[in-house]
Amino acid sequence: MASRTHTLPRDSPLLRKQRGAFFTPYEIAEFTAGWAVAGRPDARILDPTSGEGVFLLAAAQHLRQAGADPAELADQLYGVDIHARSLEETRALLRLEDAEATLIQSDFFAQPAPAQHAAQVPWVDAVIGNPPFVRYHEHRGETRRRSLAAALAQGVRLSGLASSWAALLVHACAFLKPEGRLAMVLPAELLTVGYAEPIRRWLTERFAAVHLVLFEELQFAHAEEQVVVLVARGSGGCSALALHQVRDAADLVGKHLFDSEPVAWGRPEDKWTDLLLPLQRRSLFRSVTDRAFGRLDGYGTPELGTVTGSNAFFTLNETTRVEYNIGHSHLLRIVPPGARHIPGTRFTEGHWQQLRADGQRVWMLHPNAAARRRDGLARYVAEGERLLVHEAYKCTIRDPWWRPPAVRAPDLFFTYMSHVTPRLVANETNATIVNSLHGITLNEETPAITRDALPIAALNSVTMLGAELFGRSYGGGILKMEPREAASLPVPDHDSLIAAWGLLEPHRSRLDELIRTGCWETALAEIDRALLIETIGLSAAEVASMRTAAARLRARRTRTTSDTAA
Ligand SMILES: C[S@@+](CC[C@H](N)C(=O)[O-])C[C@H]1O[C@@H](n2cnc3c(N)ncnc32)[C@H](O)[C@@H]1O
Repeated sequence: MASRTHTLPRDSPLLRKQRGAFFTPYEIAEFTAGWAVAGRPDARILDPTSGEGVFLLAAAQHLRQAGADPAELADQLYGVDIHARSLEETRALLRLEDAEATLIQSDFFAQPAPAQHAAQVPWVDAVIGNPPFVRYHEHRGETRRRSLAAALAQGVRLSGLASSWAALLVHACAFLKPEGRLAMVLPAELLTVGYAEPIRRWLTERFAAVHLVLFEELQFAHAEEQVVVLVARGSGGCSALALHQVRDAADLVGKHLFDSEPVAWGRPEDKWTDLLLPLQRRSLFRSVTDRAFGRLDGYGTPELGTVTGSNAFFTLNETTRVEYNIGHSHLLRIVPPGARHIPGTRFTEGHWQQLRADGQRVWMLHPNAAARRRDGLARYVAEGERLLVHEAYKCTIRDPWWRPPAVRAPDLFFTYMSHVTPRLVANETNATIVNSLHGITLNEETPAITRDALPIAALNSVTMLGAELFGRSYGGGILKMEPREAASLPVPDHDSLIAAWGLLEPHRSRLDELIRTGCWETALAEIDRALLIETIGLSAAEVASMRTAAARLRARRTRTTSDTAA
């Protein structure tokens, strides 16, 4: 059976999105149910958000194969779902197999655990399923409050940013017998996002063995999420997990979980993103970054640009400045909002002048607080009030509202939203930034060449791979790096940087031109040769391996589901 994408009567794609209902390809349900039943005819199984019943169906089939008594299945299979029609669909589906389950229409978070008073679901041997992936901004109100309380009852304190699956996973495990088995389809953000850190920690403490199955292809039609299958059993904690990389759901057939390679956890507070890499590449990435790379914040701390409250009002072009006759003493020079204005590796006085001549917003309003509002400035401020700019939240919390705080002109700009990879850009002007860029002021002890050298040397395959691993994938396949994530970006350490710059500096203008005009792959090959091969001593094959790893993660981030939909 292929992935099921039909819509029930009186259901709609919007309603499905709101309750996180993307239904699982049968091969995945089949695989998890097989693991859960483990050949035991008397196994009792729970799917806490059973949807249209694909996991229960697969479990019924495995139980029957194991010799279960069909008359007992209703007391062995338990499904809960908030959506009544999905449960009706499940009932019909199971009937086709001559099977029955106990189906409960309920918010799963309202279901008391077996240890609690009035429990409807007993202790189970296995929990299987695919919890809804509802993001925190849609996961609101009473359900959210109940979900966080349910996770806390199991000792897991989740932040308000957590998506719905996190609490659901924890609450579901409250129904598991101590030696029970868990097999759940979860978003791959389990491995990457900060708010899942308590879950990662809890998994290592709760289960005796944890396996993760990672897919190279997206598995769900209509969903943008990459998924992992989490498979865990027993209790008492573990110090290693086992990884399995498969191409797609069909590849799961015949997969033996114990054939895997166990790997050490590292610190549980670390992101597990590099687990997305095959072992050999992961080891190479770790060894080269340990040997010749450091974190970006070793050079200087990435910081947010100015949050004005309204870039449309507070950033001006030259025509508006002249129209209102606003004096230079009331303005700061800026890079106009948007990373497209700094396409290369350096930003010079000439670039700024060109942007000014082109009518871009090269000024930010920053009047002296004591400035008397008269003439043009007074007229411009009055225009802002007419447009209700002063009612924007950021404006209401400062006095006067028309004077945004200003970050100082940084030494480097950092483009934190990228299609390909983040870039560093040397700031050779006194221009500052609004919040469409991050800025980095170099530490005092940083060698003087860093401002010029780092933007070029950081465009190498190891840093690119680091960005894919430490950044987060944002809507539309954009890679986003908040200052904290940018701080951890691996960049060449001082010694490597200085040595590589000796080779790269004579070609600086040409490399800058290549990057500026979008020929970054040609530039990357030259920079990799100078930095990774000639300076750090990697082989050409090792460099190719890092480049392929970065390209694969990038492809994974930017790929749509359309090419993999069943
Ligand atoms: C991702 S679907 C999975 C369905 C099914 N396990 C499958 O893969 O075919 C999630 C299901 O969770 C249900 N759901 C969402 N929030 C719920 C809640 N708080 N309690 C119970 N079910 C919920 C939705 O109605 C939807 O059927």
